[in-house]
Amino acid sequence: MVDLSTTVVGIPLEHPVLLASGPLSHDGEAIARAHRAGAAAVVTKTISCRPARNPVPHLSITEQGVLNCELWSDVCAEQWIHHEIPLAKESGAIVIASIGPTVGDVQELARAVARAGADALEVVSYDPAELPRMSGEAADRAGLPVLAKVNALWPRLGAIASECREHGAQGITAVDSLGPALRIDVQRRRPLLGSPSCWLSGAALLPLALRAVAVVHQATGGPVVATGGVSSGRDALEMILAGGTSVGVCSLPLIKGLLSFASLRAQLDAELARAGFSVAEKAIGAALPALATTPGSQRMQLAWSRGLCTECGRCVAICPYAARSEPGRSDLSKCRLCGLCASVCRTGALLLEEESP
Ligand SMILES: Cc1cc2nc3c(=O)[nH]c(=O)nc-3n(C[C@H](O)[C@H](O)[C@H](O)COP(=O)(O)O)c2cc1C
Ligand code: SF4
Ligand code: SF4
Repeated sequence: MVDLSTTVVGIPLEHPVLLASGPLSHDGEAIARAHRAGAAAVVTKTISCRPARNPVPHLSITEQGVLNCELWSDVCAEQWIHHEIPLAKESGAIVIASIGPTVGDVQELARAVARAGADALEVVSYDPAELPRMSGEAADRAGLPVLAKVNALWPRLGAIASECREHGAQGITAVDSLGPALRIDVQRRRPLLGSPSCWLSGAALLPLALRAVAVVHQATGGPVVATGGVSSGRDALEMILAGGTSVGVCSLPLIKGLLSFASLRAQLDAELARAGFSVAEKAIGAALPALATTPGSQRMQLAWSRGLCTECGRCVAICPYAARSEPGRSDLSKCRLCGLCASVCRTGALLLEEESP
């Protein structure tokens, strides 16, 4: 068994996987359910001065991931402060109160949600220019650790994360869902959801989130709550290797249910052990030094193992340069070592590996 313990902005966690802000943390009962299902901590649905009136419908699961046009919480701040946060705390959950999306919301709510019993705050904004000030306002008013939540597509991401830290945030959550996005209901010839501007989350986000986590960790030195597209223990390990000190999930438990916390924890344990780590914290940022090396500077070659090959033909069919006539044979004058054939080999028979010196 791997030692999975870690911290989020100084708060000890039994393991790294927490529930990110969204529908599954919509009130105190829901937070208690996520805690009982094994979430190491729970970020509330974003609490705002005005309860949201969400378009209908506002949620759909598509092939690419979850599409939503939710705003912040539709439960009013008073109820969060007097009922939902205290109820969530009674269950024993570690509660991170998400507040936003404006500076005014943070000024109005930071102290009150802290007094209600939250363990930490997360500030979230649609406007990157406001996030550093929101971080400072939250830290000054609440006297609690503050996370600032960033978006993968913001320009100057590393600089914004650093400014949030300088203003008082103790860590960064990377990333929020991405948008604006759109799907069309073909029969009705109108947007699939109740708004033409939606947000995308789930598996499609993972590569963008990984890059953002690495950029933020490099800029700030952590901690980073690595969130976006995590669907398996392997994804979670990638997030940790890229600099995530903990891992947030929202779409996975939406799609697969709260049991996914237990399976994700078990998968992460197995993946860390397979990668040679007995202590999860030792894996944090372990891939970052390699990000600083010149890409593609190593000499590579394709290696084929006859014993593992099922002769499925995928590698031959997919080569864009017609360089592969048989699974075990490539025409070196045509092969660009692009890696596509190895990436579709499911058995591990075809690998792109570094040439031995
Ligand atoms: C339906 C839905 C509602 C969300 N609501 C919020 C929210 O109120 N506040 C917030 O900061 N993030 C919100 N998020 C973003 C998630 O917390 C998370 O950052 C994002 O979905 C990426 O993680 P995932 O791919 O694991 O879902 C929401 C996401 C979804 C899918
Ligand atoms: S994709 Fe892999 S298993 Fe399939 S033919 Fe090519 S080498 Fe063999
Ligand atoms: S590495 Fe690229 S170019 Fe070479 S055989 Fe494979 S798919 Fe073709």
